[in-house]
Amino acid sequence: MDITLRPATGADFAEIDTLTDLAFRPEDVVTFLNALRAEGCVVGEWVAEAAGEIIAHIAFSRACVETPDGNRLSAAFLSPLCVRPGHQRMGLGQRLMTHALAELRSAGETLFLVVGHPGYYPKVGFVAVDAAQLDNPWPGNPAFMALGELPAKATLVLPKTIAEVH
Ligand SMILES: CC(C)(COP(=O)(O)OP(=O)(O)OC[C@H]1O[C@@H](n2cnc3c(N)ncnc32)[C@H](O)[C@@H]1OP(=O)(O)O)[C@@H](O)C(=O)NCCC(=O)NCCS
Repeated sequence: MDITLRPATGADFAEIDTLTDLAFRPEDVVTFLNALRAEGCVVGEWVAEAAGEIIAHIAFSRACVETPDGNRLSAAFLSPLCVRPGHQRMGLGQRLMTHALAELRSAGETLFLVVGHPGYYPKVGFVAVDAAQLDNPWPGNPAFMALGELPAKATLVLPKTIAEVH
């Protein structure tokens, strides 16, 4: 199968929303995704396309970690990620994630965060966050993971949409 990975544009949003609904149903992730877009915190969205159809999607939003001296380090928060049922477990999710992470690194991003399946995201290098290191809403939860170097002590600052959902 010939698959193209590319940034999403506004013209893709309706198709992405349909895919997101299909992949996450009965959970309503479409409302969450559109709230992120409306808040203006989305750093980037990418899609995988095959035969003119979007079959996977990933989005990252702007978060940051604040050290006790008030310095803020930018972070890109991964959410949501989905692959069309029927194309799952073929490596596409990891491929799209790896692609988007490389693009974000090229744009200067160094720290990535996610709340998701603890058995999945370590495949691309995420590790569980130490609650003693980063004050966050999921202390001790292995689903909260980071990729990149965290300061020795910091507090997580999230976009409103993500803070409200989690
Ligand atoms: C989760 C998801 C993005 C993974 O993408 P994918 O392309 O299917 O996964 P990949 O092929 O890259 O990786 C497959 C491996 O990831 C792991 N994996 C896949 N889905 C998983 C899940 N739901 N829970 C835990 N591990 C999972 C497994 O180890 C799997 O290997 P296996 O098939 O040998 O068991 C996709 O299944 C999906 O869209 N699911 C519905 C929406 C969702 O749950 N999104 C993630 C929210 S955190």
